[in-house]
Amino acid sequence: MEEKKKVLTTSTGRRIDSNQNSLTAGERGPILLSDFYLLEKMAAFDHERAPERVVHAKGAGAHGYFEVTHDISKYCKAKIFNKIGKRTPAFVRFSTVIGERGTPDTWRDPRGFAIKFYTEEGNWDLVCNNTPVFFVRDPLKFFDFIHSQKRNPQTNLKDHDAYWDFLSLTPESIHQITYMFGGRGTPDGYRHMNGYGSHTFKMVNSNHEVFYVKFHVKSDAGIHNLKWPAASKLAEDNPDYSTHDLYDHIAKGNEASWTFYIQVMPFAEGEGYKWDIFDVTKVWPHSDYPLIPVGKLVLNRNPINYFQEVEQSAFNPASMVEGIEPSNDKMLQARLFSYQDTQRHRIGPNFTQIPINCPYATKVATLNRDGPMRYDGNHGNEPAYEPNSIEGTPREAPNAKMHEYEISGKAGRFGFNHPNDDFEQATTLFRKVMDDAEREDLISNLVAHMKMVTKKEILERQCEIFYRCDPEYGTRVAQGLGITPPGSKTSEQLSA
Ligand code: HEM
Repeated sequence: MEEKKKVLTTSTGRRIDSNQNSLTAGERGPILLSDFYLLEKMAAFDHERAPERVVHAKGAGAHGYFEVTHDISKYCKAKIFNKIGKRTPAFVRFSTVIGERGTPDTWRDPRGFAIKFYTEEGNWDLVCNNTPVFFVRDPLKFFDFIHSQKRNPQTNLKDHDAYWDFLSLTPESIHQITYMFGGRGTPDGYRHMNGYGSHTFKMVNSNHEVFYVKFHVKSDAGIHNLKWPAASKLAEDNPDYSTHDLYDHIAKGNEASWTFYIQVMPFAEGEGYKWDIFDVTKVWPHSDYPLIPVGKLVLNRNPINYFQEVEQSAFNPASMVEGIEPSNDKMLQARLFSYQDTQRHRIGPNFTQIPINCPYATKVATLNRDGPMRYDGNHGNEPAYEPNSIEGTPREAPNAKMHEYEISGKAGRFGFNHPNDDFEQATTLFRKVMDDAEREDLISNLVAHMKMVTKKEILERQCEIFYRCDPEYGTRVAQGLGITPPGSKTSEQLSA
């Protein structure tokens, strides 16, 4: 009996007789337009690339699950947390931030750590970085910040002057710079780093009580970072180092795991706290709000198809489930719009129907219809409007209401007037959290990077910021750069 073989076909299913020779007019003649198979193959190739993400373009992902280990129902009603031992499927995409899709994994950068939980109440996306703070605290500055780190519009080269020009004029960035030029800017693969929701979020329990929370996802394998020379060498020898490490680890049958924690602040304490809780350049010290364990995040399955599962994955900070809500952090508020907007452009308006993004554990019943590449049945013959008088069609759920809260005052463009200071938490990181060896690394990493800056005034301005954090910090970087340490300036010079 003839062996039943899989057969190559066109995209509409017609069997293909030859995948080797194009259809020509005679053995040595030109190709015929009637070679629809060649035309289809060529056109498919021409359209293969989705535009890369405008940030976080290079990434790697894996599937797994989240398991509840501790009861937090007194803080949050979300069903994902409603039973110890409960498992919810999850997908994680790790990434670098500024580089392009082909950039080495080990170049200095924060790392993205985006988690999608496929809960029975819809998808919850927790879109984290591997540092607990960010460079700027108002979204209007985000785009300029990113532009200052991307390629120069004229030369198409990385521009160290622009990089440090922006940062030296943005002192609020110092906390994040101190993290990023320390070890966290060069993690030893994605398995050895933490994830932080960074912003303040809200949790609501079933009695409608509200809490402010921060999310922390801590690597069970511990934080391991690469020293810059090793990271730089890997960028040459194995530019896909972190991608390899994650894939190979899981392919060998191992798991990668993280412990999931929250910090909880009673709602009433939010206004009077010593740090502005809506300022994403600040942490809440654990001594004030200790980490509360919640569960385990485990990754144990590699994607079968990178494009389908990783490239087309779309994370969105606005994908929240009942019981988890945004705070008034302006950066978070802006993120609630930005991601879906870019994803409509990047992968198309119906991107939530792509299997990796689909909230498959619940039933979607929206009034949105049509659009290119709609393939989920388009809600069949259900009415596309509400209210309607047709029985059995989807209705509002009044008890899904979000937390209502007071807002008042003038509309305006306000800075952060809270009695906050941009340096104190960075000082603590430099002086108390880092040890001598880490401080040494930080200084040498900064010097190596800032040496590429051509304008002395930029270096001086940035060293003053370091100095204001800690005189040793500013003095050592300035000495490394061969410029006058800020402390040796007269007070007239400093205030000029
Ligand atoms: C990706 C915007 C701040 C973490 C992205 C993307 C955009 C964006 C447009 C590309 C999304 C895509 O193509 O699918 C913004 C804006 C911000 C902001 C406007 C501030 C106003 C942050 C912060 C964090 C963060 C504070 C971390 C706490 C990420 C991560 C990704 C990402 C991890 C990659 C997601 C993935 O793996 O697909 N961001 N971002 N972003 N962002 Fe942000």
